[in-house]
Amino acid sequence: MRIFRAAVLLGTVAFMAATSAFAADVKIGFIVKQPEESWFQDEWKFADVAAKEKGFTLIKIGAEDGEKVQSAIDNLGAQGAQGFIICTPDVKLGPGIVAKAAANDLKVMTVDDRLVSADGSPLEDVPHMGISATKIGEAVGQTLVDEIKKRGWDMKDVGAIRVSYDQLPTAVDRVNGALSVLKTAGFPEANIFDAPQAKTDTEAALNAATVVLNKNAGIKKWVAIGLNDEAVLGAVRASETVGITADNMIGVGIGGADSAINEFKKPTATGFFGTVIISPKRHGYETALNMYEWVADGKEPEKLTLTAGQLALRDNYQSVRKELGIE
Ligand code: GLA
Repeated sequence: MRIFRAAVLLGTVAFMAATSAFAADVKIGFIVKQPEESWFQDEWKFADVAAKEKGFTLIKIGAEDGEKVQSAIDNLGAQGAQGFIICTPDVKLGPGIVAKAAANDLKVMTVDDRLVSADGSPLEDVPHMGISATKIGEAVGQTLVDEIKKRGWDMKDVGAIRVSYDQLPTAVDRVNGALSVLKTAGFPEANIFDAPQAKTDTEAALNAATVVLNKNAGIKKWVAIGLNDEAVLGAVRASETVGITADNMIGVGIGGADSAINEFKKPTATGFFGTVIISPKRHGYETALNMYEWVADGKEPEKLTLTAGQLALRDNYQSVRKELGIE
């Protein structure tokens, strides 16, 4: 009996040693399109938590264009990684990314921005985690409608800046979700102005929104929407430079990372009225964990996971963050 127990124990120890040795051999890449953006830094931070927990190596790579994506994937292959998660700088790189991953014998899953084929349809075979873009956009739109009413504005006197990045489907879904709610509430279509940004950052949004504001100097009250906090912050900064005060601007973003929180922390309110907080923890931690389980246990991730958002305003963001477990 004793011998038997000892043998079982030995077996268990050997098994544990084998699994942890295996975990140490697992290398997973996490490629993001904009490493300087707080959302992506948070994603990386939470992916690191998963790596620590499971004992695998996480290789974080920033890739701002197609060429960098290609070399990042080759690099991961050369380092002996088994898989990677990517938020691509351009969703049209889809088939190329899938081919490059296969050539390097790497599993691939996407986060935030879903890959598309040449005809623009999503690559449904690649597991993806994104936000529920339309619904979150609608929450933005509802917040704008409520605040327009609260301020007693007549919608015909209000302009809407649509900071747009139409080559990215999730961006289109987000802003269109917001606009659909505005229009249903009676917002005039003619007062909606497109501000196409060249890149999804604040500077590009500021430039795009400035053009709209200068062209429509007769409009004194504004709302602003965009795919993320950075886009809306750009529109808010643009409004400030042309002398539109915070009481005449309502900007509602999507994200809730540092860039939004820093805005709420300013001593006086700005035109950045609110944000729908989304979860970098789910997008970073869960995707890294999914990839690990795929590599280590052969358990394939869900093909499509869409995460929710929660509205936060200047006066309640702390309690919302607490509720969401991110404070
Ligand atoms: C896109 C945006 C990011 C962030 C994520 C969330 O990638 O560019 O700013 O909003 O979606 O999924």
